[in-house]
Amino acid sequence: MPGVGAIIAVASGKGGVGKSTTAVNLALGLRDLGLKVGMLDADIYGPSVPKLLAIKGKPEMLGGTKLRPMDGYGLKVMSIGFLVEEETPMIWRGPMVISALTQMLREVEWGTLDVMVVDMPPGTGDAQLTMAQQVPLKGAVIVSTPQDLALIDARRGIAMFNRVNVPVLGIVENMSYFLCPQCGERSDIFGHGGARHEAERQGVPFLGEVPLHIDIREKSDAGLPVVATAPDGPHAKIYRDIATRVRDGLSAGAAGRAAPKIVIEA
Ligand SMILES: Nc1ncnc2c1ncn2[C@@H]1O[C@H](COP(=O)(O)OP(=O)(O)O)[C@@H](O)[C@H]1O
Ligand SMILES: [Mg+2]
Repeated sequence: MPGVGAIIAVASGKGGVGKSTTAVNLALGLRDLGLKVGMLDADIYGPSVPKLLAIKGKPEMLGGTKLRPMDGYGLKVMSIGFLVEEETPMIWRGPMVISALTQMLREVEWGTLDVMVVDMPPGTGDAQLTMAQQVPLKGAVIVSTPQDLALIDARRGIAMFNRVNVPVLGIVENMSYFLCPQCGERSDIFGHGGARHEAERQGVPFLGEVPLHIDIREKSDAGLPVVATAPDGPHAKIYRDIATRVRDGLSAGAAGRAAPKIVIEA
């Protein structure tokens, strides 16, 4: 991708673990580090980036050939969600998905970017594997919740990126613990520390813990991501710290790569 410094994927083995929320706030954290950041919503069947960044309207055609990305809090953004109605299901087979993704990469006027953050679809099926191969990725960030079931899927995600030789930049533990907004007490609803332990086991960096907190949920779903709208709050700081680790991992080129333990047949 000419003009684009690094493309990184935010992925999870499972849906609903907070991948899109993490991707958006990570992108904003990278923006706050002074980087020019793009965001590509590769979740064709469930695009949520337009809503998370409160972007309305459709992208303009530039000179009849390329689309101009939309702007969300200073990020350049492209999503299939801009091009179809919200309630229209994407009833597409794999090859259509791949061609939509290729177009969103190549037929969009991204200009110069330091980093492009790709919100990947959940899972490690054929479409995800093909995408991981088609997009020239510099690295992948894996999002998991702490409980065993999500971690098993995260492990599959790591194995998939190993399979296509994409370095894993690290694991984020989302919904790491619950902070009661009333009393401030903490409870470990999904357990705690599982992702950190998994990162150690796999020999990849651990990027940070994001609590399960109502402010993150409410603001995300209202299109007011915490890093952009509550930059002085504790959650924004957590995401900025994760962004710093991701940037450092990219510039060191020292992303961990676990020895592939699982063989996936092409
Ligand atoms: N740390 C968090 N605290 C509270 N709610 C969260 C957190 N992370 C994600 N959520 C909420 O969980 C739901 C699923 O998150 P989302 O980012 O859409 O997951 P995914 O992209 O993995 O399917 C959303 O309603 C989101 O607001
Ligand atoms: Mg999502």
